[in-house]
Amino acid sequence: MTDPTAPTRTVERLITGQPTQDGAGVKLVRVLTQDLQRRLDPFLMLDAFGTDNPGDYIAGFPDHPHRGFETVTYMLEGRMRHRDSAGNEGLLGPGGVQWMTAGRGVIHSEMPEQADGRMEGFQLWLNLPAAQKMREPGYRDIPADQIPEFQHPGVRVRVIAGSTPQLQGAMQRETTEPVFLDVMLEPGAPWQAPLPPGHNAFVYVYRGALGIAGTTVPAQRMAILANDPHSDGVVLQARSDVQQEVRALLIAAQPLNEPIVQYGPFVMNSTEQIHQAFADFRAGRLA
Ligand code: CO
Repeated sequence: MTDPTAPTRTVERLITGQPTQDGAGVKLVRVLTQDLQRRLDPFLMLDAFGTDNPGDYIAGFPDHPHRGFETVTYMLEGRMRHRDSAGNEGLLGPGGVQWMTAGRGVIHSEMPEQADGRMEGFQLWLNLPAAQKMREPGYRDIPADQIPEFQHPGVRVRVIAGSTPQLQGAMQRETTEPVFLDVMLEPGAPWQAPLPPGHNAFVYVYRGALGIAGTTVPAQRMAILANDPHSDGVVLQARSDVQQEVRALLIAAQPLNEPIVQYGPFVMNSTEQIHQAFADFRAGRLA
């Protein structure tokens, strides 16, 4: 942190994800659910998936539409092939990120490119500002070796989006200025992560356990960080009683403070715009 006297953010609330299915029957845990969209504006959803059983993922996500936001998929293990109606195709592999901007609309499929083995990763939905919801769709594959990473003793951080004092991340977005970090800590190691005071922020621990300002955040829990205009970051402290590397996502962004109306794969600002999205989809105008 830049100012050693500035307080670290604290944990406002711990969230347990909800097991569910999506696509053609892929088992996943919805960590950021619809009721948290206002509190964690501009984030709309975070799904975590992780299984060794092909029956949990093999059906994949066949053709489906999106409009009005961006999907960010981060793979830890396994391979997924993406195809979309804008003509993009990509193979997402371990450690890689796919950043898809649905904008005015795209129809895509996300299908496993493996018949067995482990599939693990995350999909985050990031809202677009009202003025950009109908922009042209966009797509970017970021292979694992193009994600900037820094290390110091006990600490390794992959900077997927935004930046830290050490590094510029793989992806920069205007308006919401999202920060998306994958943080790896050896047992007992602390790391002071900088965070702009105006950003909504949360941490999702997916291995081991973290301490944040006196609160323990166990694996498979999301900690919503309190907003504090006087704080310029958060101290993540790997628990030393858990003899395991700690891994956690630290995700933050500037809120949009605009109306959020979601119906399934469409996220707009009004009910009228949702009806328009359905009409355009049925008329084939999203492809
Ligand atoms: Co999708």
